Amino acid sequence: MAVIADRCPQIHVTVVDLNQARIDAWNDEDLSRLPVYEPGLDAVVGRARGRNLTFSTEVEASIAAADMVFISVNTPTKTKGLGAGQASDLRWVEACARTVAQAATGHTIVVEKSTLPVRTAAAIQTILAAAQNDGAERRFSVLSNPEFLAEGTAIADLEAPDRVLIGGDDPDAINALAEIYGHWVAKERILRTNLWSSELSKLTANAFLAQRISSINSIAAFCEASGADVREVARAIGTDSRIGPKFLSAGPGFGGSCFQKDILNLVYLCRHFGLPEVADYWESVVQLNTWQQHRIARLVVEKLFGTVTGKRLAVLGFAFKANTNDTREAPAIHVCADLLEEGAQLAIHDPKVATAQMARDLKQDESAVLDSSGSWCRSESIEAAVAGADAVLILTEWEQYRQLKWADLASRMRHPAWVFDARAVTESQQVRAAGLSLWKVGDGEG
Ligand code: UDX
Repeated sequence: MAVIADRCPQIHVTVVDLNQARIDAWNDEDLSRLPVYEPGLDAVVGRARGRNLTFSTEVEASIAAADMVFISVNTPTKTKGLGAGQASDLRWVEACARTVAQAATGHTIVVEKSTLPVRTAAAIQTILAAAQNDGAERRFSVLSNPEFLAEGTAIADLEAPDRVLIGGDDPDAINALAEIYGHWVAKERILRTNLWSSELSKLTANAFLAQRISSINSIAAFCEASGADVREVARAIGTDSRIGPKFLSAGPGFGGSCFQKDILNLVYLCRHFGLPEVADYWESVVQLNTWQQHRIARLVVEKLFGTVTGKRLAVLGFAFKANTNDTREAPAIHVCADLLEEGAQLAIHDPKVATAQMARDLKQDESAVLDSSGSWCRSESIEAAVAGADAVLILTEWEQYRQLKWADLASRMRHPAWVFDARAVTESQQVRAAGLSLWKVGDGEG
């Protein structure tokens, strides 16, 4: 919404939320304190806020004044009831639809921005149609406009998208939304489909991307077993223009708010529509991902003589990828949980993730001290994290972890000491020259 406001000064964008503290944070004078860390977002908000971008808790009044409403609430995986663990929880989408139904005036275009199961638009349409029939002067058109941005590169992705997808059956409404994007996106990149294709395309894009990561991670394990190097394999296959070079980095498994949730949702829908083989196929992408995370924790234990009880391990990186403070489904959570269970003492460093967030993710006490087995702390510096450690684990590809001075770090560790590089960001020779043993994901030569 901030990018739309930035690119279309003549359109007034109002972002509303029920949560006053969150809105206050978006209105904070100090742009470095916005609630989401995303490179370039502060500049975009700084340019548009107070001009044609407003953050407010006046939900109903803002809907009443709007020509177009974007439903952008979260749709997490259900934790209980029908479809628990797989289906998306649509309670917030439904609540939004009901609020829009009551508060809207005149003709309102309602845009599904949240990632939704296929045919959710039908539910939204039904709720809106009920309000249309209550005698008030209201008309609605529903569009699907899924978002394909990736975190960490969100602003660049939005400013130069590969494509914008608009699904719907009201050509005027589609034109109105296409016109907004047309301010900065070339016409041929704005794709128009029916509602259901648009909803399904979002799930499918994420399933395909995640499948590539599970595919390369499966080959990484095979490389380690067979003496091949997964980066050489990735380069060799990636030069085939049909395969392409992107999304072929082996790692500790995919995290983030989308991939697992969307695949499980796809799995649930396939079972619902009587396609168990299709469901199993996609479910295996998530299973391989979970296996990869446990595999890394297990091999740390095995290399450290079969036990990490009471041993100090430095964990570098907790966010699910670099350039974000987001930890949703971060592989680090699962790897760290396994190692805590084994009795390790974890000193965790991440340039952006706060202590309270780590504590919540690990279900641990925030004021923990590193003094017993199965304990953890957040370290302010990399040097503090590695002090006295038996091993360093690199779980996020932050740029600063590519520049580590291994000779210096090695002198602070307890030997024999290991480096477990799950993101392949280290120079093997430098690590080994510092007297450290090295495991690097997908490197069968180690
Ligand atoms: C993803 C999709 O890319 C985006 O289009 C969609 O809108 C939301 O979900 P995001 O979750 O922000 O975006 O991050 P992405 O860059 O796709 O990475 C997801 C996970 O895969 C991260 O944990 C990342 O480290 C991992 N990954 C990515 C790999 O392990 N290897 C790769 O080659 C690429």
